[in-house]
Amino acid sequence: MRIELKPRLRMAADLVPAGARLADVGTDHAYLPAALLLEEKIPFAIAADLRRGPLDRARATVREYGLTEKVAFRLCDGLTGISPDETDAVVIAGMGGETIAAILKAAPWARERGGPLILQPMSSMPELRDWLSTNGYRIAEERLAREGDTLYTAFLVRVGEMPPLTPAELWAGKNSCDPLRGAWLDQWIAKTGWALEGISRARGERTTARRRALEEVRSGLIDMKKEWEAWQQ
Ligand SMILES: C[S@@+](CC[C@H](N)C(=O)[O-])C[C@H]1O[C@@H](n2cnc3c(N)ncnc32)[C@H](O)[C@@H]1O
Repeated sequence: MRIELKPRLRMAADLVPAGARLADVGTDHAYLPAALLLEEKIPFAIAADLRRGPLDRARATVREYGLTEKVAFRLCDGLTGISPDETDAVVIAGMGGETIAAILKAAPWARERGGPLILQPMSSMPELRDWLSTNGYRIAEERLAREGDTLYTAFLVRVGEMPPLTPAELWAGKNSCDPLRGAWLDQWIAKTGWALEGISRARGERTTARRRALEEVRSGLIDMKKEWEAWQQ
């Protein structure tokens, strides 16, 4: 029996180290831990969620695939119901970057313990990259996946120092050879362009500062795109 994960969750699942006892925070249907248990990539998982409805869906998936012995359930906010000695790796996927940062901030043991985190933010990625880099974490790897017209990213995060990220890297991550990287950069170049258009007629000191910051990000993104194109030749 297998669960075919969609590309976004597959990307996050592929970053989970083999053999890890996994905590999946905000598990909802528990598809990710169930798929990895069926593939025998992991021996045990904790499926955690803030709300009862999603946790009931997780229980239904685990029952359906005969995995009850290998999954524990926690109704809790973030990592508050999970202790460091029961997991080797943590996944937080499908949430906003600021929520992910708040969950990690409330659980300093995640850093002290040193185990890897697999983070799959849906928004506020600059804020999350910034928070990680200033709070003792380093992004060891970033991957991209496409579902329909939408591109997603996932980070493999470890404890340690990370060289400071440029404004453009905070938005789009560090340049890599990922085949989706060009489309990913185009997306952020377009978004910063729309944001600049949106404030083009506004006045005031704060708008000027915002415009300058966006222009710096956009020009860095354009440089990264050129660099990425040069790597493709
Ligand atoms: C969009 S679903 C993502 C499900 C799955 N992780 C995925 O990526 O497909 C977000 C889930 O996170 C849960 N959630 C939101 N904030 C949370 C928190 N602070 N702690 C635990 N779970 C949370 C929600 O209840 C919801 O089930």
